[in-house]
Amino acid sequence: MNDELEILKTKIESVNDLSGVLKLLTQEFADGITFSSSFSEEDQVIYHAIARLKSNIEVFTLDTGRLFPETYSTWSQTLEKYHYPVKAFYPDQLALQDFVEQKGPNSFYESVENRKACCHIRKVEPLKRALQGKKVWITGIRAAHSANRHDMPMVEWDEAHQVIKVHPLLHWSGEDVKSFIKENQIPYNSLHDKGFVSIGCAPCTRAIKPGEDFRAGRWWWEDADKKECGLHVNN
Ligand code: ADX
Ligand code: SF4
Repeated sequence: MNDELEILKTKIESVNDLSGVLKLLTQEFADGITFSSSFSEEDQVIYHAIARLKSNIEVFTLDTGRLFPETYSTWSQTLEKYHYPVKAFYPDQLALQDFVEQKGPNSFYESVENRKACCHIRKVEPLKRALQGKKVWITGIRAAHSANRHDMPMVEWDEAHQVIKVHPLLHWSGEDVKSFIKENQIPYNSLHDKGFVSIGCAPCTRAIKPGEDFRAGRWWWEDADKKECGLHVNN
């Protein structure tokens, strides 16, 4: 796997433009390519390129049940515009039911342990199902998102999910993303116009002030070093 991964990495890094990378992936893999979208600005850019390519790349979202109404509107507007399917994955019903019965609906504010348990049930376990049997997982991660995403490679092996992870927008700036959205009239989450940058679940995301860190609005009540939900174990 290591040699194959290195060859793919070299090819992708030499292409280094969004549609080029997506095309290359569809040439290299006849099936098993999937893209995870949270309907963020970055994900909307990638979705647009995938929908225009009309390839065999699948798109999925993890509907935690606690997303903002604006996120559901973006999802809906996106389907209306592109008619390119988005598969939705949901938390296991019994696990969620037990957790909420035992801890209450907002237990994530009470401890990091509860918050991680909630993220596990609502995101991490459904992600495992979404990636089952897949070969390539495309994400909208950018290096500028956080300190631990700065030095990550554009192509990497995800040991936990046994897939190749590809981040085609890794080196895009926030401005690149915004201009692409504007030029291509892509629907986007209206919360981005209200100071929200990184958007996750509604109870766990707030707007940030100019100059604040990109992820300062996520799980803002926790210490910075604990702020990860387990989707991207290394980043
Ligand atoms: S997280 O680590 O905080 O949860 P972040 O919001 O930075 O993730 O998003 C990074 C990438 O993770 C997105 O571009 C997308 O590929 C994936 N992702 C995050 N949340 C979801 C979601 N709810 N559904 C599908 N993919 C998601
Ligand atoms: Fe639960 Fe908040 Fe994690 Fe969403 S971000 S899954 S609401 S703890």
